[in-house]
Amino acid sequence: MLKTCDILDEKNKVLREISKDVVFPLTKEDNKLIKTMIEYLTNSQIEEKAEKYDLRPGMGMSAVQLGVLKRIFVVVHEYEEGKFKNYILINPKIISNSAEKIYVEEGEGCLSVNRPVEGIVPRYARVTMEAFDEKGNKFQVRGREELAIAFQHELDHLNGILFFDHIDKKNPFKDKDLYRAI
Ligand code: NI
Repeated sequence: MLKTCDILDEKNKVLREISKDVVFPLTKEDNKLIKTMIEYLTNSQIEEKAEKYDLRPGMGMSAVQLGVLKRIFVVVHEYEEGKFKNYILINPKIISNSAEKIYVEEGEGCLSVNRPVEGIVPRYARVTMEAFDEKGNKFQVRGREELAIAFQHELDHLNGILFFDHIDKKNPFKDKDLYRAI
């Protein structure tokens, strides 16, 4: 089982590298990695399990956060209290997005960033992603609100970008009124 300390910290330069496209079929290691990420993210969002195993709550994780430079990310979305849907996106891209932008009012978080970071990270309110599943089949998935943010946050990881890169350093709340808080 993955431990919180196995997740690379923001100081680790590997997080700044660009992940490479995945070649199909997936290897055993790729499949194991995906399972491990789903398990961590699911348990981390269930209070007793998070406490028991000392997990930091998170809904998304990219392979690079475990030191694997492959374009794979997983989002485990709690769409209803206690109900989770898993999204596994391989070689993902955004194929369309809303004009409207939103941001997380309390600040965006990341399993690789162990400190609170203030400021606005503008994200599209809705995105349609195109990606491959574990079998190598192409599919599209639409996300809105927090799911859309998670997709964009994780896609950034695959390009070596961390969420706070989007925050204006001199004025973290710059252009606040241009975006909707969620
Ligand atoms: Ni992150």
